[in-house]
Amino acid sequence: MHVLIVGNGGREHALAWALARSPLVDNLTIAPGNAGTDSLGENVAIAADDIPALLRLAQERHVDLTVVGPEAPLAAGIVDTFHEAGLKIFGPTRAAAQLESSKAFAKAFMKQHGIPTAEYSAFEDYTTALRYLADARPPIVLKADGLAAGKGVIIAEYRVEAQTALRRMMIEGEFGHASDRVVIEEYLSGREVSLLAFCDGQTVVAMPPARDHKRAFDGDEGPNTGGMGVYTPPPDVGQALADEIVRRVLKPTIFGMAAKGTPYVGVLYAGLMLTPYGFKTLEFNCRFGDPEAQALIPMLETDLAEIMLACVEGRLHEIDVHWRQGASAAVVLAADGYPGSYRKGVPIEGLDSGSGTEDSVSVFHAGTERKNGQILTSGGRVLAVSARGDDLPSALRRAYARVQNIHFDGMHYRRDIGQTADDEDAFDAEG
Ligand code: AMP
Ligand code: GLY
Repeated sequence: MHVLIVGNGGREHALAWALARSPLVDNLTIAPGNAGTDSLGENVAIAADDIPALLRLAQERHVDLTVVGPEAPLAAGIVDTFHEAGLKIFGPTRAAAQLESSKAFAKAFMKQHGIPTAEYSAFEDYTTALRYLADARPPIVLKADGLAAGKGVIIAEYRVEAQTALRRMMIEGEFGHASDRVVIEEYLSGREVSLLAFCDGQTVVAMPPARDHKRAFDGDEGPNTGGMGVYTPPPDVGQALADEIVRRVLKPTIFGMAAKGTPYVGVLYAGLMLTPYGFKTLEFNCRFGDPEAQALIPMLETDLAEIMLACVEGRLHEIDVHWRQGASAAVVLAADGYPGSYRKGVPIEGLDSGSGTEDSVSVFHAGTERKNGQILTSGGRVLAVSARGDDLPSALRRAYARVQNIHFDGMHYRRDIGQTADDEDAFDAEG
């Protein structure tokens, strides 16, 4: 089968890496891809959100299955467009992707279906929202309703800070139309965990739980990023808790979306807070996480192409999805300045040593491009070094050992990925 992957990050390199190994896949096209995907298939320079051009590409090349990495094309309806043209595509429709593309939609849906989440109110009118803030108890959590590249959540410690943020969002249009509507919600404290699942509209197959490190610097300091590293599984999240999250969050979501006539197909990602009063759902993403994919996909024993095909054909229940034992971790190597502005076009050294794809260690490219035979940085998150091990310490040791051989000017990464795992007591689902 000919598979087209849409996107250009580390997640898409991990998808390409797994799909290229599948006996079902004999042709791989990536649009637009990066310097890592071009050795696994053919990169075609079409942007991930240029839906008409992607459709033409899939038709011209007789693509059998398209796999969408990022949220923007999903929210813009790439799946609907491909379905109308009779093509198979892995990912949710525009209506189903609202679980990520509208926080107000997701919150109302969770409330309606009794899915545990923070208390909230949604506002389209600035004056009403401002009046609401007058009585809210800090810290106050404000969220832009729409997609904001991971930057749309503001946690204000003081009311005046919340008022300023509200003004920037609703009056000054900080996030464009994404912040025309704002969700204000209860602040939750605790540890976070992510549970991702394959879904075919009816059946839910959860992946091992994962924990992301969102802040730029060690010790969870500095600004929020798209994710600086991730590990799986977090020792404080046992099977019983994961099962409980499937039962109380993922399944009701999939059943609820099917009941609305907008069945959810693709990867559903639930971000949760483990509070002293039990777990609460913080958000949904309508796709694999990045760098979650780079740590989770190498743990998959079952053929990813077989799973994805079963999802789009509504027969996921037929597939036995197996995962490797042990643990996995991914460390993101970022450009100087990320998540703020950063340089591009910096040469990267050390990618060849140890091939990068020894069985237990993979160097996934994210913001890279090939120019005149050289690999240069082209994004903020440049690489993700991912390793498996019998346990978390050995996975982390392997990942960090590989990091030592890679260098580019300004390279920065967190040295404490996986360390929040040290002092953890198992979380009790009942709180
Ligand atoms: P979201 O995009 O909704 O996941 O939010 C991004 C990050 O903001 C989360 O991973 C949390 O770290 C934080 N966050 C979101 N909602 C809350 C909340 N209600 N209380 C505390 N932190 C939150
Ligand atoms: N790493 C979080 C995300 O992909 O949204």
